[in-house]
Amino acid sequence: KMSGKISKEDMEEMREVFGKIDLDNNGYICDYELSELLKEAGHPVPGYMVREIIQKLDRNMDNKISFEEFLIIQELRGSAIAKTFRKVLNRKEGILAIGGTSELSSEGTQHSFSEEERYAFVNWINIALKDDPDCQHVLPMDPNTDSLFTSVGDGIVLCKMVNLSVPDTIDERTINKKKLTPFTIQENLNLALNSASAIGCHVVNIGALDLKEGKPHLVLGLLWQIIKIGLFADIELSRNEALAALLRDGETLEDLMKLSPEELLLRWANFHLENAGWKKINNFSSDIKFIYLFIFIIFQDSRAYFHLLNQISPKGTEEDHPRIDINMAGFSEKDDLKRAEAMLQQADRLGCRQFVTPADVVSGNPKLNLAFVANLFNKYPALTKPENEDINWGLLEGETREERTFRNWMNSLGVNPHVNHLYADLQDALVILQLYEKIKIPVDWNNKVNKPPYPKLGTNMKKLENCNYAVELGKTAKFSLVGIGGQDLNDGNATLTLALVWQLMRRYTLNVLQELGDGQKVNDEIIVNWVNKTLAEAGKSPKISSFKDKEISSSLAVLELIDAIQPGSINYELIKTGCLSEEDKLENAKYAISMARKIGTRVYALPEDLVEVKPKMVMTVFACLMGRGMKRV
Ligand SMILES: *[C@@H]1O[C@H](CO)[C@@H](O)[C@H](O)[C@H]1NC(C)=O
Ligand SMILES: *[C@@H]1O[C@H](CO)[C@@H](O)[C@H](O)[C@H]1NC(C)=O
Ligand SMILES: *[C@@H]1O[C@H](CO)[C@@H](O)[C@H](O)[C@H]1NC(C)=O
Ligand SMILES: *[C@@H]1O[C@H](CO)[C@@H](O)[C@H](O)[C@H]1NC(C)=O
Repeated sequence: KMSGKISKEDMEEMREVFGKIDLDNNGYICDYELSELLKEAGHPVPGYMVREIIQKLDRNMDNKISFEEFLIIQELRGSAIAKTFRKVLNRKEGILAIGGTSELSSEGTQHSFSEEERYAFVNWINIALKDDPDCQHVLPMDPNTDSLFTSVGDGIVLCKMVNLSVPDTIDERTINKKKLTPFTIQENLNLALNSASAIGCHVVNIGALDLKEGKPHLVLGLLWQIIKIGLFADIELSRNEALAALLRDGETLEDLMKLSPEELLLRWANFHLENAGWKKINNFSSDIKFIYLFIFIIFQDSRAYFHLLNQISPKGTEEDHPRIDINMAGFSEKDDLKRAEAMLQQADRLGCRQFVTPADVVSGNPKLNLAFVANLFNKYPALTKPENEDINWGLLEGETREERTFRNWMNSLGVNPHVNHLYADLQDALVILQLYEKIKIPVDWNNKVNKPPYPKLGTNMKKLENCNYAVELGKTAKFSLVGIGGQDLNDGNATLTLALVWQLMRRYTLNVLQELGDGQKVNDEIIVNWVNKTLAEAGKSPKISSFKDKEISSSLAVLELIDAIQPGSINYELIKTGCLSEEDKLENAKYAISMARKIGTRVYALPEDLVEVKPKMVMTVFACLMGRGMKRV
C-alpha cells in the first residue's frame, strides 16, 4: 500500500531539497546541517535531539544521511512529510518550486492523494456509522478502492460525520434521504459544507460540486478536518480535569490550558512513557509542524507504543473495564513491520486498532499516527485528577458559546495558527491581523508586524507591539474601541478581546452583504427592514422589530423567512407553534439553523442563540439570510 515509485519530477525536487539542506555539498546531510535548517526555520533543536533524528533516518549507521536514505524516508512517508519539509524550506528560501503534488498545480491537473489516508478514513467511517440506518446504501465501503469518493457524493455520510464530531450540529430532519435528485443532493452537500464550516473546518475553495464529483484530495482534506475535530474534542482541560495530572513542576493550570491538543497529547504520551521508565519522546519544540514532522519518527519502531499500551490498558480497578494485559512478546521482534503488527494486535485487544497500518507506523505517517494516539487517549486516558490544593480549579470554566462561535468562525477562514483557545492564541495579535485582511483593511506585514520566532528576551514586548498595531488598525476600520488598548489584547482580557473580535465578525458579515448589493452600505436597520419586507411580500405573518425582539425566540420569523427565500423548503408539520415550551423553541431553532445552512448560508450561530435571542448572533443569522435572498434573483 505504499504509493509506488517516486516520479521523475519528484525525484528532481527531492534532489533540490536535499541540495538545499546539504550546505557543504558533500553529498550528505550531517547533524549540523539539519540543526542549521531547523534553526533558520525558527525551530532550534538541542543537539541530542538532532542526533536522535539523524539516527532514526540513517540506515547504514554512518551518522549522516545520504541522498538514498533521504529518498527512502520521503518515499515511505508519502507526501505529508515531504510537504512539511517543503514548507520549512519555503520559509527559508522564499518560494521553492513544487512539482507533482496538489498545492500549486493549476486547474485540471491530476491531484495526488494519500492512499493511506483513504484506507484509514474509510475504516473509521465504516465503524462510526455502521449502525446508522441512513448510511446503509453506501456502507461498508471498501477501503482498498475509491468507493469512498463516490459514497460521499450524496452528502449524507458527510453530514453524519460532522454531527458525530460535534453532536447536534445537524438536525436529522433536514437531511434529504429518499429519492434523491440533483437538487436535493446539492442541498445535502450545502448542509454538510456549511455545517463543517460552522464547527471550524476551513472549507474555502471547496464547493458542493467538488464533493459530488468526489475529488479525492478535497474529500480527504475535508474528512481529516472533520475527524480531527471529533478526536480532539475532549483533549481539553475543561472537558477532562484529569489532564491536570500532566502539570509539570512550577506550572500553573493556566499554562496547561494554553497548550494545543497536539501538545497535550505529546505530554500525555510522555507522561505514560516516563512512568514506564522508557525514554522521553519530545522536549524540543511545541510547534505543530514539528510535532507532525518528527515525533512519529520516535514511535516508528513501535516500542514506545508497546509501553504506552501497557501503561494505559485497563487494570481491572474499574468495574466497567475488565483487566486487559498487554502481551509484550512482540516487543523483541526483530523486523520493524512485524513488530508494528504485533503492537497493533495488542491495540486491537483494546478496541483501538484504528487509523494506522504497520506500514504507517514504520513510515511514521504523522497525521495517521496522531489520530491513532488521539484515539488511544480518548478511549484510555489512564489519568487521575490530582488532589493538589494549590490548583485553582475555578479557572476551568470551559468556553462560552460565544467564544466557541468566534473561534469556529476564525478557523473556518483558515487563520494560521489554528485557534484552540480564543484569548491565549490571540495574544500576539497575528490572528487578529489576518482577520483585518479578511475585512479588507490592509496590514503592513513587513514594517509593522513582528513575526515568530520571537526572540527569547522581550518576546512579550514583540507581541504587545503587534497588539498595539491591531488596535491602531481598528481606528482605520472605524471600530468603536473605547477603553481597548493593545495591552488588553496582550493580557487576554476577555471582555475587551471579545469586543474587538465581534466587530471584526460583524464587519465581515456586512461586507459580504455589501458586495452582493453592489457596494451599498448595510446596517442593522436595513437588514431588519429587508426581513420585514421579504416576509410581508411572501404573505408571511411574522415580523421583527429589532435583533432583540423577544418573538425571535420561537424561530418562526427565521423559518418563514427561509420559506420566503426558497418557497416550499420548510416542512410546516415539523414546526411547533402556539404557546411554546423552551424545548419546543429549541426544536424549532435547531430546524431553523440547519435549514439556513441547507439553503446555502454559512451560519455560525447556534440554536440556543435564537432561543435566548442573543442580538449579535441573531444579527448574523438574518444578515446571512439576506445575502442568500439577494442572490435569489
Ligand atoms: C446528531 O447528533 C445528535 C446528538 O447525538 C442526534 O440526536 C441526532 O440524531 C444526530 N443527527 C444526525 C443527522 O445524525
Ligand atoms: C526539557 O525542557 C525543559 C523546559 O524547557 C528544560 O528545563 C529541560 O532541561 C529540558 N530537558 C532536556 C532533556 O533537554
Ligand atoms: C478587562 O478590562 C475591563 C475594562 O477595562 C476591566 O473592567 C476588567 O477588570 C478587565 N478584566 C480583567 C480580567 O482584567
Ligand atoms: C420592520 O422593521 C422596521 C425597522 O427598521 C420597524 O420599524 C418596523 O416596525 C418593522 N415593520 C413591522 C411591520 O414590524
